[in-house]
Amino acid sequence: MNSFYDTSRDEPDRPIAQMDDESLRTGGSAKALDTIPKEETIDATRAFFQEGYRFVSNRCERFGSDIFETRLLGGPAICMRGAQAAEMFYEPERMTRKGALPMSTLKLLQDKGSVATLDGPAHHHRKAMFLDLLSPAHAEAIARRAAEELETRAAAWPRLHRVRLIDEFHTILGQAIFEWAKVPVPRDELPRLIDELAAMIANSGTVGPKNWWARARRRRAERKIRRAVDRVRAGFIEAEQESPFSQIVWHRDLNGHLLPPETCVVELLNILRPTVAIARFMVFAVHALSQRPDMRDRVAKDADFAHAFVQEVRRVYPFFPVVGGVARQAFEWRGHHFEKGRFFLLDLYGTDHHSALWPDPEDFQPERFVTREPSPFDLIPQGAGDPAQDHRCAGEWVTIAVMTKLIGVFAEKIDYRPSSQDDSIDLQEMPAGPQSGMTIKDARLCH
Ligand code: HEM
Repeated sequence: MNSFYDTSRDEPDRPIAQMDDESLRTGGSAKALDTIPKEETIDATRAFFQEGYRFVSNRCERFGSDIFETRLLGGPAICMRGAQAAEMFYEPERMTRKGALPMSTLKLLQDKGSVATLDGPAHHHRKAMFLDLLSPAHAEAIARRAAEELETRAAAWPRLHRVRLIDEFHTILGQAIFEWAKVPVPRDELPRLIDELAAMIANSGTVGPKNWWARARRRRAERKIRRAVDRVRAGFIEAEQESPFSQIVWHRDLNGHLLPPETCVVELLNILRPTVAIARFMVFAVHALSQRPDMRDRVAKDADFAHAFVQEVRRVYPFFPVVGGVARQAFEWRGHHFEKGRFFLLDLYGTDHHSALWPDPEDFQPERFVTREPSPFDLIPQGAGDPAQDHRCAGEWVTIAVMTKLIGVFAEKIDYRPSSQDDSIDLQEMPAGPQSGMTIKDARLCH
């Protein structure tokens, strides 16, 4: 047995709070691994798409190991889950994301030239710009704007019999982030741009025609934003000073050069698109409220509980299943040698559902976050480690601040009835979401 965790379960599902510091840090024992189990397969890519979020965990359970080797996208791949795996994967500078994402996903999410494709000092420098732009204080400002948009939008809901929340949250978050970033595009173009951003996320796990269609929509959005970048740089219009848009347009790299305009567009999209993507988490948060109406009052009145509720939504519900990386140098780990160029997949969803880290992992229990903050390696829906040192998501503060604010307002001020539509979530679909897009009835804003 090679599990990082005590698979013999001497101390089954030990609550995190009772773990000593060492096991909390590593997620279990740190003994050497004997061998890494290998899946006998010509290629498991098809199985990955069929099994979705459970692909890595299904095999970990079969092998009794939190690490195994398989073949994906025509080459060998080491798959793993758990806090120790996250710590190994997120050792600063260990993995590059270059060559780690299929082109169909890369083109819709990060794209060429983005911060995600950089390494070393160039990555640090660009990442510092993002972390500065998306600091906790700025995250609060974005959250306040989003809350105002929610109230404006909700004021019109009584005119609709049914409200499809995924569409509404896309609009709310899109309006908030374009305004906050001060992107100089006409307001009447926003609905189409927001639709285009939503299509990039919805199709990030697809291949073939759906993916090509979303890529065409991305190119259209890029042209619109590129025009704004070019006009500001040429002096035809002025970007509001110190605005996020202006900071990206005038950002200089380590050599003192401005970014190529197409890279400015990619990085602007790297703020706009994932903020719109928070709509998926918001729909999950409303889904959780509909499953646990007893929590509504506490979410509305107790900000600490709302924060814990949001952490539990991010842990339990599916977003990105895995993150891929390629070893930049050869390294030793737990008695194993991994050569440069080795491809690794870290199971984000599986780590967030690991029973050695989370007692009763499938149960929705916000209380687990009331008394403790997660470690950098156990709650990892947006990557692990230190965002300043490696590739962990730059927008995690924004995500948490926006969700906490919006779900608080939603619980306090929105009166609605559930609709009878299908809210089941299919874990084979990536990215997953309630089938109906979370539809509610007779919704209205109360004061
Ligand atoms: C909606 C929920 C979100 C999820 C689930 C999410 C998830 C992720 C994941 C898994 C990564 C890759 C980590 C890695 O490669 O190690 C990432 C990177 C990134 N995210 Fe997010 N993210 C979200 C929201 C945001 C937001 C709101 C922003 C910005 C406003 C943002 C900006 C970025 C950037 C710039 C990177 C690249 C970081 C780097 O390579 O250093 N994300 N995100």
